[in-house]
Amino acid sequence: MKHRIVAYRTLPAEVAALLRERADLVDVDADVPGALAAALADADGAIGASVKITPAMLDGARVKALSTISVGFDAFDVADLTRRGIVLAHTPDVLTESTADTVFALILASARRVVELAEWVKAGHWSASIGPAQYGVDVQGKTLGIVGLGRIGGAVGRRAALGFDMRVLYTSRRPNPDAERRYGARRVDLDELLATADFVCVQVPLTADTHHLIGAAELRKMKKSAILINASRGATVDEAALIDALASGAIHGAGLDVFETEPLPADSPLLSMPNVVALPHIGSATHETRHAMARCAADNLLAALDGTLTRNVVNPEVLTR
Ligand code: 8YV
Repeated sequence: MKHRIVAYRTLPAEVAALLRERADLVDVDADVPGALAAALADADGAIGASVKITPAMLDGARVKALSTISVGFDAFDVADLTRRGIVLAHTPDVLTESTADTVFALILASARRVVELAEWVKAGHWSASIGPAQYGVDVQGKTLGIVGLGRIGGAVGRRAALGFDMRVLYTSRRPNPDAERRYGARRVDLDELLATADFVCVQVPLTADTHHLIGAAELRKMKKSAILINASRGATVDEAALIDALASGAIHGAGLDVFETEPLPADSPLLSMPNVVALPHIGSATHETRHAMARCAADNLLAALDGTLTRNVVNPEVLTR
């Protein structure tokens, strides 16, 4: 009997075709209230991203596997899925380098005021040689503090040390000997990182422990000249406290790809601050990487439904039941 799979994100044609070879594929517009829950009730598996899948949406459903087209899985109640025996798969690794590029774009853009000055030129303000009013701050040779040295944090650290001659400090639950050996990263506690770094880069997944990990107290421990970079999840940073710190000059600036509410409301104070670079969650958003993520998620789902999935599993304990 063919599996029945719900797609709640538009898939690249080849990936949809791959799934249709092996399953009945049902496209659902998750923006239609109740549509996704109704479709899940009669599905074996689902593939998509950026939609909260609540326990209530799974009550009475025969779903055996969910596959998110993302490395982050904060859109799911993993403990509840595990209780239900539902496998959750995600797409690490395929997006690591593209996301690290986005992080570095934020570092360079916020330090050298790329967006602000590009708009200044477009507005016709460049009428003479630039002066100190247009100066930025250096990236090369500075200290980068990575809060959470995982796959993406590691790729950022490598770019920083080997590409920009930066000193890399990191926090992590465990030492990272590979990063220390390959590019001299040094593990420190959060307070030392905040007090020392010129760029504080948040690279932790969003969990109950990392919610508002960077709040008013942490922002006060940063250098006035420091820049906060966040391309992890909005709620790892207390956004209201960040806005206060930027407005008061407690920190120099911020480069942000994620926000507590996405899309970022148009009236957010962050959007009227010249020392803030705000991007629309483009971390992994390249044609190549988004295609690779969708393909990886499709392969994950088919393998999970066939009982052959061994990697990219968020809750592997379900597999050994
Ligand atoms: C996703 C991301 O594209 O992978 C993640 O965790 O944040 C991005 O790569 C995004 O979650 C999908 O909307």
